[in-house]
Amino acid sequence: MASTSPPRTLPQLDPVAVDRWRRGWDEVMAGFLPGAASCEAAVLAVAEAVCGPGAERSPDRGVGASPGLGQVFDGGGGHGRAFDGGGGAARAFDGGGGPARVLDLGGGPGVFAERMARRWPAATVGLVDLDPVLLALAAAGSPGRVTLHPADLAADWAATVDGPYDLITAVMAVHYLPPGAARDLYRAARSALRPGGLLIVADLMPDPGLTGVMGRLHPAAGDAAAGLAWTRWWEEVRAEDMLAPALREREQIFARRVPAEFTPPVDWHRAAAHEVGFTESGIVWRWGAHAALAAVA
Ligand SMILES: C[S@@+](CC[C@H](N)C(=O)[O-])C[C@H]1O[C@@H](n2cnc3c(N)ncnc32)[C@H](O)[C@@H]1O
Repeated sequence: MASTSPPRTLPQLDPVAVDRWRRGWDEVMAGFLPGAASCEAAVLAVAEAVCGPGAERSPDRGVGASPGLGQVFDGGGGHGRAFDGGGGAARAFDGGGGPARVLDLGGGPGVFAERMARRWPAATVGLVDLDPVLLALAAAGSPGRVTLHPADLAADWAATVDGPYDLITAVMAVHYLPPGAARDLYRAARSALRPGGLLIVADLMPDPGLTGVMGRLHPAAGDAAAGLAWTRWWEEVRAEDMLAPALREREQIFARRVPAEFTPPVDWHRAAAHEVGFTESGIVWRWGAHAALAAVA
């Protein structure tokens, strides 16, 4: 059995504050990932089409007809990503067409992992991350729904998880890794997937055929505001005494892991997937310089 140990520092947090921080996180991430709701919709639709037991069998359950998409993303006041803390929208989807075993790499406070768990209630959903603050929020915010695997995506994560998986996702996480570690992540993900399983990497992934256009699109207009929102979010979290030990731990961890900001063009990702034996790979979603690449094991 893989490690399911909680974060080393697991504080008793106020559930209302946890809910607020996780909602705030979603908004901050939506600032960094333009069109985030449509990205998430695409990821879910592709996962259901490729991994779901019933998705492609039923004529009214194809990708375009997936009943979940309009229901999960219920507006949410204009934020890029809808937070379904109460499960209302996601509950409307029966969950029968989803993958059975899911792993979200660099899943942070678990908001996307939780949405997947709610959308596919029969699925087991795991999350890998190494940030003790975000893991504490994931643990407090989605108890019992998401299994946490505290681990380093640049090192030992594959040994801590419990494959094989049907679906592995990595949203806005791979750019933290240097090139070698990013390539190794593709290899480890390939090994952790069942044959036919799906890896989806969503990140800043420019199109090399549109160098000029990509240059104009990045940095995006909202990046500065997103950076400010990120700083404010962390300031608010820092004000919580219960999180002080986790914050200290976090500082030590990231002192040795400065984000690489490695954002190669999509061709690099396709080559990395191909090299380690993914049978097909390509873009399933794009918004400016951001894209989601799907690779089939
Ligand atoms: C920009 S956040 C995205 C979080 C989440 N995927 C989302 O979209 O809300 C990047 C995440 O990657 C995690 N991360 C960065 N480097 C990591 C590493 N070496 N090992 C594990 N997680 C890492 C961070 O802790 C953070 O949770």
